[in-house]
Amino acid sequence: MVKEPIVIIDDDKSICKTLKLHFERNGYDVTTTQMAYEGLSKLESFVSAIVILDVRLPDANGVELLKEIRQKGDNYYSIIVTAFPDMESTIKAVQNGVGEYIHKPIDIEEIDSAVEKAGEFFQSKYNQKTSFIPVPVVKDIGRQFIGKSHVMKEVFKTVGLVSMSKATAHISGESGTGKELVARAIHQSSANKDEPFISVNCSAIVDTLLESELFGHEKGSFTGAITQKEGKFSLARNGTIFLDEIGEMDINLQAKLLRVLQEKEFERVGGKEKLKCNCRIISATNRNLEDSVKAGKFREDLYYRLKVISIHIPPLREHTRDIPDLTMYFIAKANQELNREIKYISIDAIDTLTEYPWNGNVRQLENTIIHAVIMTRGDRLTANHFKSILGPEETETYSGLMDNTESESFQNDENTLKSLNEVEKDQIRLTLQHTKWHKGKACQILGITRPRLDRKIKKYGIKPIQYYMSKA
Ligand SMILES: Nc1ncnc2c1ncn2[C@@H]1O[C@H](COP(=O)(O)OP(=O)(O)OP(=O)(O)O)[C@@H](O)[C@H]1O
Ligand SMILES: [Mg+2]
Repeated sequence: MVKEPIVIIDDDKSICKTLKLHFERNGYDVTTTQMAYEGLSKLESFVSAIVILDVRLPDANGVELLKEIRQKGDNYYSIIVTAFPDMESTIKAVQNGVGEYIHKPIDIEEIDSAVEKAGEFFQSKYNQKTSFIPVPVVKDIGRQFIGKSHVMKEVFKTVGLVSMSKATAHISGESGTGKELVARAIHQSSANKDEPFISVNCSAIVDTLLESELFGHEKGSFTGAITQKEGKFSLARNGTIFLDEIGEMDINLQAKLLRVLQEKEFERVGGKEKLKCNCRIISATNRNLEDSVKAGKFREDLYYRLKVISIHIPPLREHTRDIPDLTMYFIAKANQELNREIKYISIDAIDTLTEYPWNGNVRQLENTIIHAVIMTRGDRLTANHFKSILGPEETETYSGLMDNTESESFQNDENTLKSLNEVEKDQIRLTLQHTKWHKGKACQILGITRPRLDRKIKKYGIKPIQYYMSKA
């Protein structure tokens, strides 16, 4: 389920910090500010948001601010938090459209339940209205690096650190995870960003040509070398050379590359002049280079030279939290590039995308969205668009249902075999019983989103009877 961002407006910095930490841990995107009007302008960058608002602010009264928030539309849910509650301001807050009113010192359970209520408010709003969420309108989208999940934040941090020096870096990760994007981000954040970024795919060029491609050649050094040619190492100047699919590089060429790394020098093919290598080297691979080293296909010394700093980009299935944001970004990008106007995406569609395994990672997600945008006539995307592209079977996840020994043992006994639906129903009922119908926790255990859980509860007619019976 898409979690609405939270904007905290409170002049007490420690409250901002504590709440930010708390809600970020629970998967929310949190923005904080100490000033009322700064908060108000920050709200503009969110289509919808939960606003946690203090009453006594340096530049305004929170209760008064509520009115202005309300004027921005009904997509903001406000929670007032105050140390000085009085009847008058409570009444006013209610009149001005407050969702919840909480007293300081803040009780974390109380604020959690207020935020949960806000979530339900948005949920029922989306369900009632259309169950569609608007796609942000972006004028000039450019190349962006999306990711709020913990694992992607770690990647960003390393990018920041690497960019500060000229250190050699190695990026690993499955195909389509964003290795080239990371390499470009390092370059773009470095002091030499105005120098060239040169990408060479080592697997796309035959070995003999790759050498001359990288180092250049002298005129007449081989048949076809009609003129002298500069290699990529020279062309990269003080910038970055990105050696993609480095694992595919021929072992003889590996020795020459090692020399560049050790001595910062190289010669053109057929030449004697020593040329300086001033650029940063970033390499990447989607296979396990350690295995190649063990198999004797990749030089161990080169391997260690390349991975002075190593960055691993996790597969998309390990940061599914980023899928809604990536989806919105790719739709906005496709709108711009294909001159389309997709304005909404259904919550169901987001669910479908979040639950798909994405073996082709972010690239596959991007391609799927482009495909869907092209195929859609109207201004909205629904789960069906994606199901027809991805195939209905794969969009269902039953993770965690069949991987225990108990299920293995009943698989062996034909008489007790159940249909997947029955297994699913049992599992959901058990999980809800276990969590005492705390749906959020149940979703976490089951690995599904809240709306999906609600649909399943409805579909199977699961009721909290057992829980109340056991309580009695
Ligand atoms: N976090 C991200 N935010 C936005 N776009 C992304 C992100 N990660 C990947 N992409 C996009 O996904 C596509 C694939 O990324 P990229 O080419 O960097 O992957 P790769 O790991 O180099 O893949 P391969 O191993 O197949 O070469 C690109 O269009 C890239 O812009
Ligand atoms: Mg690549």
